[in-house]
Amino acid sequence: MKNLLTIAACLILAACSSNADHSFHAEDDVKNSHMPLRVAAEQAEFYWGAAAGPQQLDEADYAVALAGNFTIFTAENVMKFPMIHPEPGVYDFSGGDKLAAFARETGQKMRGHVLIWREDLTPWLGESPSREAAIALMREHIHTVLGHYRAHYPDVFVQWDVVNEAFRSDGTLRDSGWRGAIGDDFIELAFQFADEAWPELELYYNDFFELAFNVGGSLVTAGGELDPDAIRPGLGSVGPLANCDLNTKCNGMRRYIQNMVARGVPIDGVGFQAHIGVPIAPDYPQLATWIEELGLRWALTELDSPCGPDQSGQLNEALCYPNQAQIFADVVQGCVDSPFCNTVVQWGVADHHSWWPGLSQGALANPLVLDSNYAYKPAANAVLDALLTASE
Ligand code: XIL
Repeated sequence: MKNLLTIAACLILAACSSNADHSFHAEDDVKNSHMPLRVAAEQAEFYWGAAAGPQQLDEADYAVALAGNFTIFTAENVMKFPMIHPEPGVYDFSGGDKLAAFARETGQKMRGHVLIWREDLTPWLGESPSREAAIALMREHIHTVLGHYRAHYPDVFVQWDVVNEAFRSDGTLRDSGWRGAIGDDFIELAFQFADEAWPELELYYNDFFELAFNVGGSLVTAGGELDPDAIRPGLGSVGPLANCDLNTKCNGMRRYIQNMVARGVPIDGVGFQAHIGVPIAPDYPQLATWIEELGLRWALTELDSPCGPDQSGQLNEALCYPNQAQIFADVVQGCVDSPFCNTVVQWGVADHHSWWPGLSQGALANPLVLDSNYAYKPAANAVLDALLTASE
């Protein structure tokens, strides 16, 4: 606990240098309870992270938990297109800047999320924009956002999700404002603009391979929308579908990315979101084989795995915490063991921040390694054990 309090004092007094050695008090934590996850991740030179929001930074418990347990974090929402670029020509960097200033203060890193998703471009370009107008908007957006953070926080950002969720489960490209106006090369154009704007940044394509989870009988995608045509019920990338040859979505994405790499389009990595709504972890190392063969990196960018509540609304910890811990152990260990993976980010800081209850109308919750009191769950200890194997 002393270590976390030290970090809290740093934050409040702003008295610590940005490369403060937070492992200094680790022995106390080991004696009293456990080594903080952040210390284990630092020892392993591993990016173990969380999704975070700027408003919650004002809550002391939240700030301490974020600073004390993670080496990296992602803006959960505030750096998405409509938030950071709310009107044509208008940018709002306040939320991202607050997070980035916090990261600098605590000596943490950030992943940028996300430049290009499924935006409806009508508010920016009107109905049926031309290819040229949409390309100009994309170029402006990417250069402005990356230009701002490169100018002000070059020491904070190490990776950025350039394009998110462009493929459907059948391996074809999804409809979106960008694809509709620009055509199928909108993905590679986004990577070219991002590389122009910030060549040193690691640029990721990000998507989900954990197919449908059943919520009240409806098929819901990890993006939260009903997508019955695109989704085949099943265990997603578990079992045989962990083989990219048999996974139609992975296949489509692989073809596109192989083609990009063959023509020298600058992409550095592929992010698997890892919203795991089934009680078994997908085999990410197996699914990532082709990525490694291309010489690209891979990451688990939005990891979470719900635990209950059951039909009476109760959380049965004895029933689901061990299995949840096994899922986190498998996922983190798979990344730790690969020379091409050094990043796992969970989607939220503690259970009460998770998007799952909202997404599932309360049916699924408690998907992270810290509980709603910021206490370590068995999954936190499982992550700790996996991180410790990296520095052995
Ligand atoms: C989610 C956020 O967690 C929610 O708060 C928001 O309402 C919707 O977006 N894939 C992604 C993330 O890439 O950006 C999404 O985040 C979850 C699915």
